[in-house]
Amino acid sequence: MNEQLSQDELKKLVANSAIDYVKSGIIGVGTGSTANYFIDALAQIKHKIDGAVASSDATAERLKSHGIEVFDLNDINGMDIYVDGADEITEHMHMLKGGGGALTREKIVAANAKEFICICDESKYVPILGKFPLPVEVLPMAKSYVARELTKLGGQPQLRKFTTDNGNLILDVHELKIADPIEMEIQINQIVGVVTNGLFAVRPANILLLATSEGVKTIKKDA
Ligand code: A5P
Repeated sequence: MNEQLSQDELKKLVANSAIDYVKSGIIGVGTGSTANYFIDALAQIKHKIDGAVASSDATAERLKSHGIEVFDLNDINGMDIYVDGADEITEHMHMLKGGGGALTREKIVAANAKEFICICDESKYVPILGKFPLPVEVLPMAKSYVARELTKLGGQPQLRKFTTDNGNLILDVHELKIADPIEMEIQINQIVGVVTNGLFAVRPANILLLATSEGVKTIKKDA
């Protein structure tokens, strides 16, 4: 494949390739434009699966619109795979997520899956995380306190005009130097009032499907 594909075409290509990992049972489904293409592809093989767990209200609506049953996470006993996009991912499979504001539910659903399959176009593959501002979900009453604490870590937090599915707020943190994503994920989550942050490093992806103009590359953790 040599033709120049648009970013949207690359997202669709990689979303379709993730269908090979769908065998049966209940599938964990992420949020965002790449995940939306995955949902559309999943609809074509919905007879193979029992249903899905959604990482956002938007994803639940899209799954239901295709006639895919959406399960409450509390009613099931884990799942084999969770499929989602990312805003950035490194060769160590550490991800920065939450551009769509669904980071907390994404992290919860991912924690219940044996394998995290990340689907991205090549623009998301980076040497170091942090060019994309780091989303941090905060309880509304804690937003100013958390913003001051994030500033002490060297970041420049900006309040997003957005309310999460959980009724909370998002601070997008610019200019963070994320040399050690695991350490920073833990450190930020310890600030009182933080619900979670968009670093997915403590629990990284297991498989990265990366769409490039040469086709979809499969990168496995510790391969
Ligand atoms: C949603 O909250 C995010 O974590 C998305 O997974 C991420 O923003 C990727 O989105 P796109 O697939 O739309 O680029």
